[in-house]
Amino acid sequence: MTDAQPRLVLIGPPGSGKTTVGTILARRLATGFRDTDADVEELAGKSVADIFVEDGEPHFRELEREAVTTALATHAGVLALGGGAVMDAHTQSALTGYAAGGGVVVFLDVSLAHAAPRVGFNQARPLLVGNPRARWAELMEARRPTYERLATLRVHSDGRTAHEMADQIHQEV
Ligand code: S3P
Repeated sequence: MTDAQPRLVLIGPPGSGKTTVGTILARRLATGFRDTDADVEELAGKSVADIFVEDGEPHFRELEREAVTTALATHAGVLALGGGAVMDAHTQSALTGYAAGGGVVVFLDVSLAHAAPRVGFNQARPLLVGNPRARWAELMEARRPTYERLATLRVHSDGRTAHEMADQIHQEV
């Protein structure tokens, strides 16, 4: 990347490697890394899991929209979005504008078999509680068209290390 201020957003489902790849990529590009889940936790003063239980998903999505809007407008660096953030209409148009302005939107594409061991399907991901594999597959099916539509670059995650994915993104942007 030649731009002095790289602007790159990672989208994709839980377990696609957004946080790990984003951290590596930001280090290589000598820029900052930000994760909207962490921003939401800071806004709320509690964990994502606790927000879902105590305040409900709609409240989480409101905080997430606010975190994404702020980060897209102010963060010159690498940004990872929570897996469901792209389903918000306001976030979709913000991402379209971001790409139109030269930002790169990377979809980390992954299959259930490869996402499962990364996610561990634990309680930290409240949307996957119950039958995590079935929930993950349902969410991915519903979201895939949106990930594909918003992305300016698609990177396959199956069977690849985070360093390999970061290498590919680094070369292609
Ligand atoms: C969610 C994904 C999570 C987090 C929240 C909801 C989703 O982020 O934002 O639990 O809707 O897929 P990760 O994609 O980083 O796991």
